[in-house]
Amino acid sequence: MAYLITFRCYGTWLHGDERGSVDDRHNQWGAPLLESDARLSRRRLRSMRSQRVSLDAAQRECVQQVLGEVARHRRWTIHAVNALSNRVHVVVTAVDDVNVEKIMSAFKAWSTRRLREQSLVSAQSPIWSEGGSTRYLWNEDSIQAACHYVTNQTDTTEPEALARAEGRTALADASGSVGHSRHTIHYKLRNHDLNNPYRDVEVWASPQEIDDFARDGFLVRHQVLSSDQIESMKAAVDEVAAADARQEVGSSRRFGGHFLRHLLEKHAAFHPLISCEALISVARAMLGPQIQMRGLTARISFPDQPNQETHWHFHQRLIPEPTPPFFMRPQSIDCLIYLDDADDKNGPLCVVPGSHNWTDRDLAGDDWSEKPGQQTLRVPAGTAVMCHGALWHRALPTTPEGTVRRLLILGFGACWLRPSIYGTKPEKSLIEPLLENADEPTRELLGAAGWM
Ligand SMILES: [Fe+2]
Repeated sequence: MAYLITFRCYGTWLHGDERGSVDDRHNQWGAPLLESDARLSRRRLRSMRSQRVSLDAAQRECVQQVLGEVARHRRWTIHAVNALSNRVHVVVTAVDDVNVEKIMSAFKAWSTRRLREQSLVSAQSPIWSEGGSTRYLWNEDSIQAACHYVTNQTDTTEPEALARAEGRTALADASGSVGHSRHTIHYKLRNHDLNNPYRDVEVWASPQEIDDFARDGFLVRHQVLSSDQIESMKAAVDEVAAADARQEVGSSRRFGGHFLRHLLEKHAAFHPLISCEALISVARAMLGPQIQMRGLTARISFPDQPNQETHWHFHQRLIPEPTPPFFMRPQSIDCLIYLDDADDKNGPLCVVPGSHNWTDRDLAGDDWSEKPGQQTLRVPAGTAVMCHGALWHRALPTTPEGTVRRLLILGFGACWLRPSIYGTKPEKSLIEPLLENADEPTRELLGAAGWM
């Protein structure tokens, strides 16, 4: 059996980090991750026994050598190893029945011992964080993909998480997006009429994040909008709300607030989303190269009104029972883009990781209960939570101390999937003029091309 093992230097991956973390009570498969909590992260940072460890070149070299020695001694095979300043990745095969946790423990223990023997670290200070990540690699393809991932990791591939762990603010680049790690997918479109063209997608996420999205059904993307974009989109939401003659108001206990549909058709302030690679490229990594936007909706929630929370729900209920042999499951992604903070005052988002795979389970129409494994996401304005359409989720209640919360919901689907059915398109379209000079991927994105 082969494994991808990652363990981290002391103090570089703290409980409370936004990706979620595990401790002794949260390390079973399917158990809730510890909730993201900046305060918890900062508390841990203060209670650390010593400084955050950063490995220099000599230390990294030593660690890589030790891993090779341990593997030779135990007759394990290392396919790829990469010791970075803050973490170590290794792809390893063990023929015997050894537990992967034991493999990781051996690597960590022997590295510590050698680093100390060679006086490359002080005798007492901790070097590694507790635990680590262990992934099973089931076949040759996944081993190769893991090796590719490991060898391409650099010290700059996760500035975001580290910055947050240390309470710093990650710097946004000109496009408003923090330094997401990237990789390229070389897609073949497989259409002999077009001579089987290739299309490269530079994905603004690591392969690991794409795997996490597939497993959990959601992925949090920080700072996908610049502060200018947040302000102009907030103003545009208010403008469209004021101009909408027949406002769609959620009236039942479920889904209070105002809904505004077809926003790309209604206000050009939303058009930066048409080139928002931080979201589009990830959608192409999940759904394939030929995707379209299924609609852009805003939901405005108010601090001083009831019914601003939602019951548990998901956005697709199209799988019949029994499932016919040729049935094609509709898969879509809804990006919840917060223009105002989603915190405890404004009503955070609650999700059940992995629930997008529960194709045989139903949700009652009026379910407000706590769910095992639920995770509460508190995110600042400018953050997008990318969710599989079938992910179980709900918005928690707003409070009188909060503010108006403007949320954009941007859908992605395969280019042949129907767009969202809600609302009425305005007569004058702001999208049609954009199609004239658009390239093929953009025409697909805007729903005007891409199917036979
Ligand atoms: Fe929803």
